[in-house]
Amino acid sequence: MESPFSELLLAEDRILHRVAELGRAITRDYAGLDLVIVGVLTGAFVFVADLIRHIDLPLELDFVAMSSYGAETKSSGEVRLLKDLSHPVQDKHVIVAEDIIDTGLTLRYLMESIQARRPASVACCVLLDKPSRRVVDVDVRYRGFEIEDRFVVGYGLDHAGRYRNARSIGVLRS
Ligand code: IMP
Ligand code: MG
Repeated sequence: MESPFSELLLAEDRILHRVAELGRAITRDYAGLDLVIVGVLTGAFVFVADLIRHIDLPLELDFVAMSSYGAETKSSGEVRLLKDLSHPVQDKHVIVAEDIIDTGLTLRYLMESIQARRPASVACCVLLDKPSRRVVDVDVRYRGFEIEDRFVVGYGLDHAGRYRNARSIGVLRS
Protein backbone atom coordinates (compact mmCIF):
# COMPACT_ATOMS: atom_id res chain seq x y z
CA MET A 1 0.00 0.00 0.00
CA GLU A 2 1.33 3.48 -0.86
CA SER A 3 2.12 5.66 2.17
CA PRO A 4 -0.77 7.98 3.05
CA PHE A 5 1.64 10.47 4.59
CA SER A 6 3.15 13.63 3.14
CA GLU A 7 5.47 13.50 6.15
CA LEU A 8 6.24 10.73 8.61
CA LEU A 9 5.99 12.12 12.15
CA LEU A 10 6.33 9.15 14.49
CA ALA A 11 7.67 5.83 13.31
CA GLU A 12 6.14 2.64 14.70
CA ASP A 13 9.12 1.73 16.92
CA ARG A 14 9.17 5.19 18.52
CA ILE A 15 5.44 4.99 19.27
CA LEU A 16 5.72 1.52 20.78
CA HIS A 17 8.70 2.49 22.90
CA ARG A 18 6.82 5.48 24.35
CA VAL A 19 3.60 3.50 24.90
CA ALA A 20 5.62 0.96 26.91
CA GLU A 21 6.98 3.83 29.05
CA LEU A 22 3.45 5.10 29.69
CA GLY A 23 2.36 1.59 30.68
CA ARG A 24 5.25 1.32 33.14
CA ALA A 25 4.42 4.72 34.67
CA ILE A 26 0.78 3.66 35.16
CA THR A 27 1.95 0.35 36.65
CA ARG A 28 4.01 2.24 39.23
CA ASP A 29 1.30 4.79 40.05
CA TYR A 30 -1.70 2.44 40.33
CA ALA A 31 -0.25 -0.56 42.14
CA GLY A 32 -2.79 -1.91 44.64
CA LEU A 33 -5.66 0.19 43.25
CA ASP A 34 -8.85 -0.92 41.54
CA LEU A 35 -8.04 0.27 37.99
CA VAL A 36 -10.35 0.77 35.01
CA ILE A 37 -8.98 1.86 31.64
CA VAL A 38 -11.59 3.64 29.52
CA GLY A 39 -10.67 3.82 25.85
CA VAL A 40 -12.27 6.43 23.62
CA LEU A 41 -13.56 4.86 20.43
CA THR A 42 -12.71 4.71 17.70
CA GLY A 43 -9.35 6.45 17.46
CA ALA A 44 -7.80 5.14 20.69
CA PHE A 45 -8.39 1.43 20.08
CA VAL A 46 -4.89 0.70 18.77
CA PHE A 47 -3.23 2.77 21.51
CA VAL A 48 -5.33 1.11 24.23
CA ALA A 49 -4.55 -2.38 22.93
CA ASP A 50 -0.83 -1.70 23.19
CA LEU A 51 -1.02 0.33 26.41
CA ILE A 52 -2.90 -2.23 28.52
CA ARG A 53 -0.37 -4.93 27.61
CA HIS A 54 2.31 -2.77 29.24
CA ILE A 55 0.32 -2.28 32.45
CA ASP A 56 1.41 -5.06 34.75
CA LEU A 57 -1.59 -4.86 37.11
CA PRO A 58 -5.07 -6.36 37.30
CA LEU A 59 -7.38 -3.99 35.42
CA GLU A 60 -10.76 -3.72 33.75
CA LEU A 61 -11.27 -2.34 30.26
CA ASP A 62 -14.26 -0.33 29.08
CA PHE A 63 -14.95 1.89 26.07
CA VAL A 64 -16.95 5.00 25.34
CA ALA A 65 -17.63 6.45 21.92
CA MET A 66 -17.73 10.17 21.26
CA SER A 67 -19.02 12.03 18.24
CA SER A 68 -16.33 12.52 15.63
CA TYR A 69 -15.44 15.31 13.26
CA GLY A 70 -17.06 13.47 10.35
CA ALA A 71 -14.99 14.27 7.30
CA GLU A 72 -13.68 17.55 8.68
CA THR A 73 -10.18 18.15 9.99
CA LYS A 74 -11.25 20.84 12.46
CA SER A 75 -13.40 20.30 15.54
CA SER A 76 -17.02 21.38 15.24
CA GLY A 77 -16.84 22.33 18.91
CA GLU A 78 -19.81 20.08 19.59
CA VAL A 79 -19.28 16.93 21.63
CA ARG A 80 -21.73 14.06 22.05
CA LEU A 81 -21.53 10.76 23.85
CA LEU A 82 -22.51 8.03 21.39
CA LYS A 83 -21.77 5.01 23.58
CA ASP A 84 -21.66 5.18 27.34
CA LEU A 85 -19.60 3.05 29.73
CA SER A 86 -20.78 -0.55 29.95
CA HIS A 87 -19.91 -0.99 33.65
CA PRO A 88 -20.15 1.20 36.76
CA VAL A 89 -16.93 2.95 37.84
CA GLN A 90 -18.01 4.02 41.31
CA ASP A 91 -15.10 3.82 43.81
CA LYS A 92 -12.71 2.70 41.07
CA HIS A 93 -9.64 4.48 39.73
CA VAL A 94 -10.31 5.46 36.15
CA ILE A 95 -7.81 6.34 33.43
CA VAL A 96 -9.32 7.66 30.22
CA ALA A 97 -7.10 6.71 27.29
CA GLU A 98 -7.47 8.93 24.22
CA ASP A 99 -5.60 9.07 20.94
CA ILE A 100 -5.16 12.84 20.79
CA ILE A 101 -6.13 15.96 22.69
CA ASP A 102 -6.76 18.96 20.49
CA THR A 103 -9.21 21.63 21.72
CA GLY A 104 -9.73 19.57 24.89
CA LEU A 105 -13.53 19.65 24.51
CA THR A 106 -13.88 15.88 24.13
CA LEU A 107 -11.81 15.03 27.19
CA ARG A 108 -13.28 17.80 29.33
CA TYR A 109 -16.80 16.53 28.60
CA LEU A 110 -15.80 12.94 29.21
CA MET A 111 -13.94 13.61 32.46
CA GLU A 112 -16.94 15.52 33.82
CA SER A 113 -19.32 12.80 32.78
CA ILE A 114 -17.16 10.13 34.45
CA GLN A 115 -16.64 12.26 37.55
CA ALA A 116 -20.42 12.31 38.00
CA ARG A 117 -20.35 8.49 38.47
CA ARG A 118 -18.27 9.01 41.63
CA PRO A 119 -15.11 7.10 40.83
CA ALA A 120 -12.29 7.04 43.41
CA SER A 121 -10.25 9.10 40.91
CA VAL A 122 -10.13 9.95 37.23
CA ALA A 123 -7.05 10.83 35.17
CA CYS A 124 -6.29 10.93 31.49
CA CYS A 125 -3.65 9.43 29.30
CA VAL A 126 -3.24 10.72 25.75
CA LEU A 127 -0.91 9.48 23.07
CA LEU A 128 -0.70 12.84 21.30
CA ASP A 129 -1.15 16.40 22.51
CA LYS A 130 -1.61 19.48 20.30
CA PRO A 131 -1.27 22.12 23.04
CA SER A 132 -1.46 25.07 20.64
CA ARG A 133 -5.10 24.26 19.88
CA ARG A 134 -6.37 24.01 23.45
CA VAL A 135 -9.66 25.84 24.14
CA VAL A 136 -10.46 24.39 27.56
CA ASP A 137 -8.03 23.38 30.25
CA VAL A 138 -7.66 19.64 30.85
CA ASP A 139 -5.27 18.04 33.32
CA VAL A 140 -3.35 15.46 31.25
CA ARG A 141 -1.51 13.12 33.64
CA TYR A 142 0.13 10.90 30.99
CA ARG A 143 1.21 12.22 27.59
CA GLY A 144 2.96 10.31 24.81
CA PHE A 145 4.11 13.09 22.48
CA GLU A 146 3.50 16.79 21.96
CA ILE A 147 2.95 17.65 18.33
CA GLU A 148 2.39 20.81 16.28
CA ASP A 149 -0.96 21.83 14.91
CA ARG A 150 -1.13 19.48 11.92
CA PHE A 151 -3.74 16.89 11.07
CA VAL A 152 -2.23 13.46 11.60
CA VAL A 153 -3.39 9.93 10.80
CA GLY A 154 -2.31 6.36 11.52
CA TYR A 155 -2.02 4.13 14.61
CA GLY A 156 -5.80 4.34 15.07
CA LEU A 157 -6.22 7.97 14.01
CA ASP A 158 -8.34 8.53 10.94
CA HIS A 159 -9.43 11.00 8.36
CA ALA A 160 -13.01 10.35 7.25
CA GLY A 161 -12.72 6.82 8.63
CA ARG A 162 -9.54 5.83 6.80
CA TYR A 163 -5.82 5.28 7.55
CA ARG A 164 -6.41 3.81 11.03
CA ASN A 165 -4.41 0.74 10.05
CA ALA A 166 -1.21 2.62 9.21
CA ARG A 167 1.43 1.44 11.70
CA SER A 168 3.15 4.83 12.05
CA ILE A 169 1.74 8.34 12.49
CA GLY A 170 2.16 11.02 9.87
CA VAL A 171 0.74 14.16 8.34
CA LEU A 172 -1.99 13.36 5.87
CA ARG A 173 -1.08 13.88 2.22
CA SER A 174 -3.40 16.61 0.89
P1 IMP B 1 -10.78 17.72 20.89
O1 IMP B 1 -12.14 17.55 21.47
O2 IMP B 1 -10.71 18.95 20.01
O3 IMP B 1 -9.67 17.69 21.90
O4 IMP B 1 -10.56 16.59 19.83
C1 IMP B 1 -10.20 15.34 20.14
C2 IMP B 1 -10.62 14.40 19.03
O5 IMP B 1 -10.48 15.00 17.74
C3 IMP B 1 -9.72 13.22 19.02
O6 IMP B 1 -10.28 12.18 19.78
C4 IMP B 1 -9.66 12.85 17.56
O7 IMP B 1 -10.72 11.95 17.26
C5 IMP B 1 -9.92 14.10 16.82
N1 IMP B 1 -8.67 14.70 16.29
C6 IMP B 1 -8.08 15.85 16.68
N2 IMP B 1 -6.96 16.09 16.00
C7 IMP B 1 -6.81 15.05 15.14
C8 IMP B 1 -5.82 14.72 14.16
O8 IMP B 1 -4.82 15.41 13.92
N3 IMP B 1 -6.04 13.56 13.47
C9 IMP B 1 -7.11 12.75 13.69
N4 IMP B 1 -8.06 13.03 14.60
C10 IMP B 1 -7.91 14.17 15.32
MG1 MG C 1 -11.19 10.56 19.16
